[in-house]
Amino acid sequence: MTTGNELAGRVALITGGARERGQGAAEGRLFAAHGAKVILADVLDEEGERTAGGIDGAEYAHLDVTSEAGWDALVADVVARHGRLDVLVNNAGIAVMGQLVKASAEDWDRTIAINQTGVFLGMRAGARAMIAAGNGGAIVNISSIAGLNGLFGSMAYGASKWAVRGMTKIAAKELGKHHIRVNSVHPGYIETDMLAQGGVVDGFRDKMIRSVPTGRLGQPTDIANMVLFLVSDAADYVTGQEFVVDGGVHG
Ligand SMILES: NC(=O)c1ccc[n+]([C@@H]2O[C@H](COP(=O)([O-])OP(=O)(O)OC[C@H]3O[C@@H](n4cnc5c(N)ncnc54)[C@H](O)[C@@H]3O)[C@@H](O)[C@H]2O)c1
Repeated sequence: MTTGNELAGRVALITGGARERGQGAAEGRLFAAHGAKVILADVLDEEGERTAGGIDGAEYAHLDVTSEAGWDALVADVVARHGRLDVLVNNAGIAVMGQLVKASAEDWDRTIAINQTGVFLGMRAGARAMIAAGNGGAIVNISSIAGLNGLFGSMAYGASKWAVRGMTKIAAKELGKHHIRVNSVHPGYIETDMLAQGGVVDGFRDKMIRSVPTGRLGQPTDIANMVLFLVSDAADYVTGQEFVVDGGVHG
């Protein structure tokens, strides 16, 4: 059970946290409200500074998740300044939709680089720091319901999200002995800039809502609540699993 001070003294790094209405920022707000020191990392520096500036206990850092050197430098900086890293949320992602026969190799490469390689580099850098500190830790990787089924028109996106689901289970097996837990979260249709920019909302919004048994689009806070549970001690015996937060669409 969460108490309101679940993350006191913990340091949490969240990627893709710049956008005010994004899931990463919602997680940052909730973690900070539960006592954590939060670092929101992104490539949208101006927006990120503004978003972090509005959260007590949060700060912004530039990070392109595809950069190996960037990851190593940021994690080293976080540990140097805050003494530890306890929580990592690999939330950054892009959604370039398009059917297989029309898809470009460039979009494929970019999607895999950000959504999949970014998660690999993040888990590696984060786990190394957590192991060195010896305090254990919790990693949550944001996949999607597109990582659980064959979502029409999502060849690259779906491939990256299926990969994240599998990578989560491998990391959980390897890191368990260090008391580092790794789980994946699979959002459904969440009302963020990503959903709007994908053009998915235009014309399809009503159809999308009708496909959700609970009758509404998800909000970033719906995901943040699940992520908070997974990184808290309440989930101490939970690792290597996938958690669907989609109002009942999948399954
Ligand atoms: N919105 C949805 O319906 C939905 C559904 C399922 C899964 N997801 C996943 O949830 C996560 C969060 O997405 P969101 O809905 O909050 O959208 P969002 O667009 O608000 O957030 C994604 C963030 O990732 C950042 N980002 C992109 N490339 C980056 C890079 N190279 N390095 C660092 N940051 C980078 C963006 O700048 C942005 O701030 C993503 O992984 C997305 O795939 C979203």
